[in-house]
Amino acid sequence: MEHLGKGPSLMIFRQLVEPQSSTYTYLIACEETCEAVLIDPVVETVDRDLAVIAELGLTLRYTLETHIHADHVTGAARLRRETGSRAAVPEKSGAAHADVSLREGEPIHVGTLAIEPLYTPGHTDDHHAYLIRCGDGARVFTGDALMIDGCGRTDFQNGDPAMLYRSVHEKIFTLPPDTLVYPGHDYQQRRVSTVAQERDRNPRLGGGKTVDEFVVIMNSLDLARPKKMDIAVPANRVCGEMQVA
Ligand SMILES: [Fe+2]
Repeated sequence: MEHLGKGPSLMIFRQLVEPQSSTYTYLIACEETCEAVLIDPVVETVDRDLAVIAELGLTLRYTLETHIHADHVTGAARLRRETGSRAAVPEKSGAAHADVSLREGEPIHVGTLAIEPLYTPGHTDDHHAYLIRCGDGARVFTGDALMIDGCGRTDFQNGDPAMLYRSVHEKIFTLPPDTLVYPGHDYQQRRVSTVAQERDRNPRLGGGKTVDEFVVIMNSLDLARPKKMDIAVPANRVCGEMQVA
């Protein structure tokens, strides 16, 4: 078992992968109380998540969404049904069947851990990253706002490239440079970066790129629609309840 931190807050941590959508689901638990959260669970990998939770002897308290996803359906509803966990969704998502509304300035507490929502719109208008300060270090779960050498698209769901630039520069690049950056996706199996690395090297957002340069990059991407968008967005607006009806 991976034990992290030296202070009173000891954390159990697993980075789990859903290969179809290259989504990372993060399992985070308080070592003292064995209470856990999952960030961005995917419905197809709920059984895997439940097995890891059981193997580690954890109790799932919350599922947390970074935003309303367009590329996969959340596992929140199935996990709630199986474990009694509470579906926590950004307030701005407006999702039905949510148990908890997340806002910046109102941390979620799980045992001795505090998970701080950071409002980071631009990929979508409801997007939040989650920051955990634990022991000597910090980890930020950046969803689709900031990815390793990239970022999420800004061409639907009220996306706005200038807003995304401000979110990343003001809320994420201002964190301590050695803060670990865990993205919502990676399509090349990379797993982790740091604030310093992305601030210095991210080819879209870092290395001194201006907001105007970033807007030009994002507006010229010409990306295909996500295959599951017409299923995923409505399902995620009800916390995935459609999948288990
Ligand atoms: Fe997304």
